Amino acid sequence: APGPVQDTRHRGLHDLRISVTDRCNFRCPYCMPRSVFDESYRFLPHEELLTFEEIVRVAKLFHTHGTEKIRLTGGEPLLRHGIETLVEMLATALPKADLTLTTNGSLLKAKARALKAAGLNRVTVSLDSLDDATFRAMNDANFPAARVLEAIDEAAAAGLAPVKINMVVKRGINDAHVIDMARHFKGSGHIVRFIEYMDVGATNGWRMDDVVPSAEIVRRIREVFPAEPANPNYTGEVAKRWRYLDGTGEFGVISSVTEAFCSSCTRARLSTDGTLYTCLFAQKGYALKPLLREGKSDEEISNAIASIWQHRADNYSEQRTADTARQRKVEMSYIGG
Ligand code: GTP
Ligand code: 5AD
Ligand code: SF4
Ligand code: SF4
Repeated sequence: APGPVQDTRHRGLHDLRISVTDRCNFRCPYCMPRSVFDESYRFLPHEELLTFEEIVRVAKLFHTHGTEKIRLTGGEPLLRHGIETLVEMLATALPKADLTLTTNGSLLKAKARALKAAGLNRVTVSLDSLDDATFRAMNDANFPAARVLEAIDEAAAAGLAPVKINMVVKRGINDAHVIDMARHFKGSGHIVRFIEYMDVGATNGWRMDDVVPSAEIVRRIREVFPAEPANPNYTGEVAKRWRYLDGTGEFGVISSVTEAFCSSCTRARLSTDGTLYTCLFAQKGYALKPLLREGKSDEEISNAIASIWQHRADNYSEQRTADTARQRKVEMSYIGG
């Protein structure tokens, strides 16, 4: 039956992250290393993707179980043909939901206004360095940082604000650029979050040595720009907030590796082909597409979702070791960041 559900650790089902495509025009080595995601890699064929109608139906069923936040991800969600239409359909079906999207920013400048008009509330843009050479290397698609900066400005001007900027920090690759990033966005109204490099998927060759602990990032930033901790905006907020003492805004850190936040994790993920995953590091999911395509009723699918959530016990980040990092986990581009 509809109504809020809780898992075995008393966590609600507040967020749904929907991967709308497993494709991306970038090849960030920590997510889609080019050696694996090359010309011969087989992305999902179109008929395997959930249709917009199917996505909206699933989102509405989640909503009846307490889901109030919906984030469109990928892969790169703006590569999905007609994405504005999906945003509009979701905004119409769930007018009270917080509807957001995570993008690499490459196609955002052209689409920001249409997305806002369609009912999108906010965007989060990934940007790993302001140093152009470093950024081009980190996206491994030779994409310039300046184009992402333009897109961020356009998104804010369109009203998709505050824009959040995600920087994944990898030791020896871009950690020297943390202060530059903080400085650039101080006073802009945008919010940068520094993310610990994680062992998502099975292809990025993650090693603990490559992780820069958030405590170190916070210490380095505070040496230059004094800041104090700020309260979470809501319980279970993934980023820890830090407010600059000079009143120029805030930054955040996301510490999945050194300070796991599983105990308040209320996030479900719907993969591009309609499989439900209850953890970013899951090794298996629950295929909803057959239920959608074999004529099951809303009630039957709703009950299936509730039952999956009620059995959930995931707390991967609390158990992470070098061994778990080698498990055959599903890729983030498919499951949704
Ligand atoms: P808002 O607070 O609405 O801005 O959402 P958010 O903080 O979830 O932002 P976003 O979706 O951009 O998430 C930021 C990053 O945090 C993701 O890209 C992941 O790298 C990481 N992250 C988000 N959710 C989880 C999670 O459930 N587990 C882990 N381990 N990492 C997560
Ligand atoms: N570790 C941490 N964050 C990652 N992301 C992708 N792969 C990883 C990883 N291995 C982030 C991207 C983007 C979001 C979708 O997830 O930088 O901001
Ligand atoms: Fe694409 Fe984002 Fe993955 Fe980079 S992190 S390859 S931009 S989906
Ligand atoms: Fe949630 Fe899994 Fe991330 Fe823990 S590791 S916060 S359970 S998605």
